[in-house]
Amino acid sequence: MTTETTTLPEPLRLRTPPGVYEPQHDTRLLADALRREGIRPGADVLDVGTGSGALALEAARLGARVTAVDISWRAVLTTRFNAWLSRQQVSVRHGDLTAAVRDRAFDLVISNPPYVPSPERRPPRGAARAWDAGQDGRALLDRVCAEAPEVLRPSGALLLVHSGLCGVEDTLARLGDAGLSAVVTDRTSIPFGPVLLSRLAWLRQSGLSAADLREELVVIRATKE
Ligand SMILES: C[S@@+](CC[C@H](N)C(=O)[O-])C[C@H]1O[C@@H](n2cnc3c(N)ncnc32)[C@H](O)[C@@H]1O
Repeated sequence: MTTETTTLPEPLRLRTPPGVYEPQHDTRLLADALRREGIRPGADVLDVGTGSGALALEAARLGARVTAVDISWRAVLTTRFNAWLSRQQVSVRHGDLTAAVRDRAFDLVISNPPYVPSPERRPPRGAARAWDAGQDGRALLDRVCAEAPEVLRPSGALLLVHSGLCGVEDTLARLGDAGLSAVVTDRTSIPFGPVLLSRLAWLRQSGLSAADLREELVVIRATKE
């Protein structure tokens, strides 16, 4: 089995075996926002859709008490291995979004969920489960907006990253409806990657493709009163 090694940022060393999402622009944008949070030692942090564990391990490195969840067993095992490799403590649970932690409350919830619009009507299988999220890209995002507030402590915050292709205003509205105060804290423009390029004709038909073949990534920070 081939593996790739990513350093993100020093001194975390992560293994990302095939089938596990390799940390990318979105991971790094959210990691930057996470570092700005000024996490206090022992704060309870939940990473929803942890993949390789990149964000969970960064939170642990900042002194948080971290729980990470993923629906992919491969991701769960990879994050456990990466925690051991980086000598960080993370409790890694298998589960569907917050289902495995409904009885818990967290100071901070972080999530880089699947958000790529896909022409496929059936639920994604295999590696695509890490990025494909239905025709509007919101299959997981809408659920995160609904579930995250339920596991946040009062004064807790949600940090969420996604593409502008799936509707920033929609996310802000849904978080507002769920009782959180939400704002966009970070924006960056990146070129379309291989997945978006491979479905360009469909994106154009759906009115989602910009002429410059770039997408905007945003970080949304939402707080609970
Ligand atoms: C875009 S990747 C992000 C991985 C990592 N957090 C990062 O930023 O590099 C999304 C992750 O969400 C996981 N995922 C997809 N659907 C999920 C669900 N219903 N519940 C929990 N995790 C899910 C995928 O397996 C994948 O690891």
